[in-house]
Amino acid sequence: MQVIRVKNYNEMSEKAADMLAAQVKSKSDSVLGLATGGTPEGTYKAFVQKALQENLSLSELTTFNLDEYVGLSPQHPKSYHLYMKNHLFQPLALQPSQTNLPRGNAPHLEKEAERYERMIKEVGGIDLQLLGIGENGHIGFNEPGTSFTSRTHIEKLNPTTREANARYFENKEDVPEHAITMGISSILDSRSILLLASGERKKEAVKRLLEDENTREDFPASSLKNHPYVTIIADEHALAVVSKTDEPSEKDEAKPL
Ligand code: GLP
Repeated sequence: MQVIRVKNYNEMSEKAADMLAAQVKSKSDSVLGLATGGTPEGTYKAFVQKALQENLSLSELTTFNLDEYVGLSPQHPKSYHLYMKNHLFQPLALQPSQTNLPRGNAPHLEKEAERYERMIKEVGGIDLQLLGIGENGHIGFNEPGTSFTSRTHIEKLNPTTREANARYFENKEDVPEHAITMGISSILDSRSILLLASGERKKEAVKRLLEDENTREDFPASSLKNHPYVTIIADEHALAVVSKTDEPSEKDEAKPL
């Protein structure tokens, strides 16, 4: 894993947007894996600006998001569908045929999970997967204890995750209890991974990710140690309690994007 230390949220967002742009420039039919939450909002804003300024060609781009809340329709104001539409798809004028999220209100959720896996396979897999990290180490909505061999599936959300995400809802009881999420194995199939972490809230998770050499299913992000091309962009607040950081470890190298 290569760690890029940055000062703050803005710098993280700019750097991440640069990497997304570099990916798209190097391969116009890139398949991007996308994340939601507060962390990538700035990245999407910076990427939109860059794409418009530089007139990036995005017509061959395909995107797959990590997850969606079960029970929310794509039009629901708190759905990840709408989040993506507002933050990225609409500003970039991406066509609905280019963008994919699992349907949280599909009548048969298991079939939906299979369909989603199939769709990713059909386009040849994900080139670059963007990730955030939950305070408990979740990636996508893969909570502690999720098997590292998991594919897209339905996950029951931990009370702490529902609480952390309650800030996006009117009442904390409104946070759905389940989500449909790419599995750990689906995420690790991506050819490269970019994980973003910003703010003090993430410092314990980032410390564990960087300092604990073990890969353990009770800490989903540790599965990333099994992947050869992971880049982490973290700000000083998220790195606050990590003892050593910015040197890429000797055995790993970052894949040029
Ligand atoms: C949610 C999302 C994750 C995200 C995480 C952190 O649960 N499913 O993809 O990485 O929370 O969110 P935030 O970036 O808002 O801290």
